[in-house]
Amino acid sequence: MTSANSSLSLISPDLPPAPPSNATPAKIGVLASGNGSNFEALIQAIADGQIRAEIPIVIYNNPDAAVAARAQRWGIPAVLLDHRQYQSREAFDFDVVQALVQAGSEWIVMAGWMRRVTDVLIDRFPKRAINIHPSLLPSFPGIRAIDRALAAGVKITGCTVHFVTLEVDAGPILMQSAVPILAGDTSETLHARVQVQEHAILPRAVRLAIGQ
Ligand code: GAR
Repeated sequence: MTSANSSLSLISPDLPPAPPSNATPAKIGVLASGNGSNFEALIQAIADGQIRAEIPIVIYNNPDAAVAARAQRWGIPAVLLDHRQYQSREAFDFDVVQALVQAGSEWIVMAGWMRRVTDVLIDRFPKRAINIHPSLLPSFPGIRAIDRALAAGVKITGCTVHFVTLEVDAGPILMQSAVPILAGDTSETLHARVQVQEHAILPRAVRLAIGQ
């Protein structure tokens, strides 16, 4: 059967390490709601020299999100903005944008950001906000994408990195990787294999987007 790497190579070209460059590193603000494994894949790729970038801030919206501890381990400021404290999506996005801009962010990567965004965010970062989603879009946008792929009985699913637009999980696609669904897969086993591919394509797609 196909290995994690061969399924990736079907869809996404392997990129060599970024060439040495004197260009100023891109500043990428990260938004995350939960575990933060995609954030860590991105920061690891930066640390390995695959992308010339810095992550000046991680914003998270759930007080117990594990991403906060991961950010702390990497010495990256992590800021909690709890959407439950806001009257509207726009008011929440306003503070998210303020924090991103104050930290110097030029790009946004949504690494497991479980919030619908508004034009407050999109207008400040036009074509500069990137999201990762656990399906082969346009199939299974929105929540519980893994469970819905299993329930639909599809034989192949995967993950997608795309630019963020107002429509949920519908912006221009940067990169995808396919993951076969195996007999006996559960939500957990399938998500684990999808995440291997997420961690591989997110850094590559970010590098593509920022033009390195
Ligand atoms: C990832 O699988 C990501 O694709 C998904 O949340 C998970 C976050 O994992 N995002 C969405 O479903 C957005 N619609 P992580 O916290 O370990 O990076």
